[in-house]
Amino acid sequence: APGSPALRPPLGWNSWNTFGCDINETKIRAAADAMVNSGMREAGYEYVVVDDCWQATTRDASGNLRSDPTRFPSGMKALGDYIHSKGLKFGIYQAPREETCAQYFNAIGGATGALGHEQQDANTFASWGVDFLKYDWCSPWGTLNDQIASFSLMRDALRATGRPIVYSINSNSAHSNTGPSYDWSPVADMWRTTEDITDKWRSGCTGDCFMGVTEILDVQAPLHAWNGPGHWNDPDMLEVGVRGTFTPTENRAHFSMWAIMASPLIAGNDITTMSADVRTVLTDPDVLAINQDSLGRQAQRVRDFGETEVWAKTLSDGSVAVALLNRSGSTATISTTAAEVGMPAASGYNLFEVWTHAASNTSGAISATVPAHGVAMYRVRTGSTTPTDTFSLRGVGSNR
Ligand code: GLA
Repeated sequence: APGSPALRPPLGWNSWNTFGCDINETKIRAAADAMVNSGMREAGYEYVVVDDCWQATTRDASGNLRSDPTRFPSGMKALGDYIHSKGLKFGIYQAPREETCAQYFNAIGGATGALGHEQQDANTFASWGVDFLKYDWCSPWGTLNDQIASFSLMRDALRATGRPIVYSINSNSAHSNTGPSYDWSPVADMWRTTEDITDKWRSGCTGDCFMGVTEILDVQAPLHAWNGPGHWNDPDMLEVGVRGTFTPTENRAHFSMWAIMASPLIAGNDITTMSADVRTVLTDPDVLAINQDSLGRQAQRVRDFGETEVWAKTLSDGSVAVALLNRSGSTATISTTAAEVGMPAASGYNLFEVWTHAASNTSGAISATVPAHGVAMYRVRTGSTTPTDTFSLRGVGSNR
């Protein structure tokens, strides 16, 4: 949206995919500590986002939001101060209607949505040092025009505070009651494009149900033109490492595809206990550099063979990131060419595979044998110099 502080896809962590409503200030502080100790902060991750269920069930006598006194006894200002003391940014969750999503579905408490309190809540968030707001429609009610009015109201309220706050919305736009995906770029800095993700490669979901990684890719692929600096399609938070469901191959493929789509990368796993392998995936500097490229292009699916696909993302230095994705349950050879992925004609190209660091030269063919549910991801440049180094994102966080 105009005035967006999110000129690159936001990088962070959110409590929902692992903890759901089972959150408290100890867990959130531990996540902030882990973001530093794991190397995620140094790799570029910034936002620690407290999702639904942080609120008390009622407002105070002046109508102000307040935190649950048992789970967040120190209050949200203190939590924000702690997160900031770690060199990180503070994210929070609210809903535009009468109640938040967990209350709507699980009836856990009273009416604490922002309806009728939009500017008051934006001011409260700014006073707590909030840097990121996830604003979640979470209901089958209302038309698209109701949503546009409601989400625009909070955009204006946030901007009126004068504090740069990334505005992340979920319109439930894939929901059958509210219609297909919509270009929210005038309204929000990032917007959900699908129903909630779950830790499945394929869930079989085609309607109002939890979506697997591959179903989300199919929704996201046609929306590439909406993506760019300050306005990002959001295919939902990462399931990398969540509950240990995905294999190492699947974790790499899921992370590669979210990265090449220039999607926000919001880790959803328990980063205080993650394995070394999961940490290595989330902090890979070459993959993060592709995600954070300043052009902000979402990869296009340039070839769809059915169960295998070729995705390509043009980068600001003229190179192209290419993902050869195998959605199927068996090993497959996937092939494309430099021309098909949008490289200019040249006598030769070099390929750098970001996960294996294998470097090679080619006159145009790009081909790999890719394991089931796996990906090969290249950075392709013109020329014949064998690349030897990796790309590093270090310092990007402090530049934006
Ligand atoms: C919705 C959102 C989720 C999460 C929950 C919280 O389902 O899509 O990401 O925020 O609400 O209740």
